Amino acid sequence: MTIIRGATTIEKDCKEEISSAVKNLLDEIFSLNKLAKNEVKGLLFSLTTDIHAYHPAKAARECGYDFAPLFAAIEPEIIGGLQLCIRLMLFTELENDRNVKHVYQKGAKVLRKDISEIFNIALDGPAGSGKSTVAKSLAKDYNILYLDTGAMYRACALKALRLGVDTKDGEAVKAILPELDVKVEYKDGAQRTLLGEEDVSQKIRENAVSMAASNISAHPVIRVKMVEMQREIAKKMSCVLDGRDIGSTVLPDAKFKFFITADSKVRAERRYKELLARGEEVDFEKLHAEIVARDKQDSEREFSPLVCAKDAIVIDTSTMDVAEVLAAIKGHIQSKI
Ligand code: DC
Repeated sequence: MTIIRGATTIEKDCKEEISSAVKNLLDEIFSLNKLAKNEVKGLLFSLTTDIHAYHPAKAARECGYDFAPLFAAIEPEIIGGLQLCIRLMLFTELENDRNVKHVYQKGAKVLRKDISEIFNIALDGPAGSGKSTVAKSLAKDYNILYLDTGAMYRACALKALRLGVDTKDGEAVKAILPELDVKVEYKDGAQRTLLGEEDVSQKIRENAVSMAASNISAHPVIRVKMVEMQREIAKKMSCVLDGRDIGSTVLPDAKFKFFITADSKVRAERRYKELLARGEEVDFEKLHAEIVARDKQDSEREFSPLVCAKDAIVIDTSTMDVAEVLAAIKGHIQSKI
């Protein structure tokens, strides 16, 4: 008995999509493996719990795959697992010994790290646009790494603040470079940002660090060092990176590029709630003014400013919730996979 595996995803839970996804998957498995009908002994489909509209076994029968027993089952619901996914195990008795080829289509490709190529998702945009929330969800759903590049600049800023260095002073910033030991690590899938051996992941989120991060990130010496680290990570594994210059400078060849934006008042409100939830007292008007100032500084700096890469898809999240933003992004990704 030789088992051939396959999987695919659909975008909408409807009969037409299920039927065509099942047909495409089976057609590719059969043609790639040069399978004869009499070699196939059974087909077992499994579906994620969000698929209800049509029975895949019925879909298989309708498109001519009715020569072996067919069965379908529902999979357990896994947090962060792929959505709208149809998987298949094909039981075969092959007439002559041959290597079988498993088939992973559309969104299901990314779950098989061994067969899918390394790809990067660049999410750029101003502060508070919702990039990091979206980036974390995408990373979880696609089972890839999330690299928060802003955290790296924040760690640089924290170091400078601790040393009493003016983050606007290029020469003073240059002088601390040899002592600047920023690292990122991953624990249980979450990024930890380190200064030396110290985990500063929480500390760098304080509001006082935000403007200093914007200041320090304008200096080429800092950017060159951080960008090099970001490229190293992105080269080795599939990841979603959020920042200001990912699609334009860090990874101009990223397969997927999005520019996430929102009205500055909406962004200030989001940040306000986030800081309150963390117990930080802030004045809303002051916070809004800071966000506008940071936008201006990040966009107008000379070296690698915040820009929308010309091939990026722009998403204005002002009136969208996280689920809607995710659906929009995934829609684009699925259509390109
Ligand atoms: O995304 P954030 O708020 O954590 O970023 C903090 C600052 O770092 C931001 O004001 C600009 C800078 N930054 C950058 O210049 N390039 C990046 N790729 C990420 C952040």
